[in-house]
Amino acid sequence: MRLLSCLPIDRQVRVLTSTAEFHSFERQLRRLEETGWCRVTRIPSEPVGEFAPRMEAELRRQPWDLLFFSQVFFDSALAVTELGRIVAATPDDCLVAIDGYHAFAALPLQPGPLLQRAVYLAGGYKYAQGGEGCCFIHVPVNCSLRPAITGWFADFEHLERRGDGVGYAADGRRFAGATFDPAALYRLDAVLGLYEKEGILIADIHRHVQTLQQRFLRGWRTCPAWPPGAGSISPDGPMAIF
Ligand SMILES: Cc1ncc(COP(=O)(O)O)c(C=O)c1O
Repeated sequence: MRLLSCLPIDRQVRVLTSTAEFHSFERQLRRLEETGWCRVTRIPSEPVGEFAPRMEAELRRQPWDLLFFSQVFFDSALAVTELGRIVAATPDDCLVAIDGYHAFAALPLQPGPLLQRAVYLAGGYKYAQGGEGCCFIHVPVNCSLRPAITGWFADFEHLERRGDGVGYAADGRRFAGATFDPAALYRLDAVLGLYEKEGILIADIHRHVQTLQQRFLRGWRTCPAWPPGAGSISPDGPMAIF
């Protein structure tokens, strides 16, 4: 919501996204669409190999205010591997946000220069094994976004300052809200600390999961219920490794 509130509110905005965004974004977007504030174009998430070229073509077609898409689609586990290509094709005046929720701590991603341009959202609830409550937003360094939906933690260091206009922290805290329960942060920190201590890398976990998938499929092939109907194994084929 805070991210959306960085977009102009005095005119209709254009949002480019996929057909497979998670409910948290899709529901909010549909509600705002009902109000007439945004016009949304949804690019089919499948076949995933055509996703990046379709996005690039759409980015060239007209101006956009927000590009928002998942790195791994929640409903198919298909991964968008051409993140850099899509982000590079996005005009400078368009906000780019990647929902990394199904990739974070699951795929060994080294985003590199991508994060100098894109906002990246994820959380500790799924593959990072930190339980509920610790989601995060990464904003590029020197980010000057000023979410209109804000909270008093967003400029915590200058609470007493009453200047012209509303100030924001120089870093990602500009997206902070209000008083919160930090227990989830300690929990995730403890989990990541354990990974570090035990020398467990995300690439190791990913390999382990792939091995289990293959074992499951080998077992399934010996069952009377084999072969399954088309589209019932997802992703169908080896998963991408970045
Ligand atoms: C792709 C994706 N994005 C975001 C979220 C997080 O949603 P929220 O923090 O709104 O519960 C989830 C949670 O399941 C998800 O699967």
